[in-house]
Amino acid sequence: RMEVTETFAGIALPGHLHTQESLGFAAAFTFRPTDVLIATYPKSGTTWMQEILTLLFSLGDARPAKTIPNWERAPWLEQIYCREALQDTETPRLLTTHLPAHVLAPALQRSKAKVIYVARNPKDVAVSFYHFHHLAKFLPDPSSFDDFLTQFLEGTVHYGSWFDHVKGWLGQRHLLDILYVTYEELHQDLRGTAQRLSTFLGCPLAPGTLAALEQHCSFSAMRDNTMANYSLIPNEIMDHSQGRFMRKGQGELGWGARGVWECSIPDSPSPLSHRGGRGLAQPLL
Ligand code: PPS
Repeated sequence: RMEVTETFAGIALPGHLHTQESLGFAAAFTFRPTDVLIATYPKSGTTWMQEILTLLFSLGDARPAKTIPNWERAPWLEQIYCREALQDTETPRLLTTHLPAHVLAPALQRSKAKVIYVARNPKDVAVSFYHFHHLAKFLPDPSSFDDFLTQFLEGTVHYGSWFDHVKGWLGQRHLLDILYVTYEELHQDLRGTAQRLSTFLGCPLAPGTLAALEQHCSFSAMRDNTMANYSLIPNEIMDHSQGRFMRKGQGELGWGARGVWECSIPDSPSPLSHRGGRGLAQPLL
């Protein structure tokens, strides 16, 4: 294990990718009006959204997605290589973050940058995150799933509390130019979500783009795309014998649980939100 932890804003983060300097750089970032930031709690559909936006911006041309690693196409604002990765990026710049809203909100509120927040059913996030801890040598070795789940619910895992993360970013809905998307919605209606994204971004969406997007952003295509599946990361950092980053790409609990979760996102046009009722996460948000 190469586990070194950096603590920032009360949150533990992997030390091989984060320093106080890189985190300070993110918090004081000067966003451009054309910037698009993908914000997520880990395991919520980050990589999927990076791929979708890559295809949208390239108007369906799969070459960037197939030749440039996703961490270069959409660098993480808070990671040590970001400054360098952005050096010759043309506009619009695609950025990614796992940071909580309160760290980035001041910089974002000063700008006209667009934010896309992707959220996933917390039960599936916990399961996916647990498996990822086996693969990622920069995260603590998880003992049992029960212990991990307790830490996840307490918010003492790396990247902090899922509840605080979602609540924090939802709290920005009147303050930022922000679009909320769920992982489940991407599953249920990728075309519809791509259309919603294209309207939000003011990015044209030709019929050919949609077809290319559906093809290249499918779970199987991304699982086999070395530029998206993290197989290029050396074994010292990700132990590929422990499993795949593109693990399963499904909900653990079936569609019913997803419906309950989607209800809890305000303003979500997801068809499941018509069911009403209070979602499981609702009392906590
Ligand atoms: S990370 O480490 O925070 O960047 O992880 P993140 O990309 O947010 O989440 C990884 C999970 O997303 C699944 N995934 C997909 N599911 C369906 N379709 C597509 N195209 C897709 N791409 C990634 C990935 O498999 C992880 O979920 P689990 O449940 O572990 O399979």
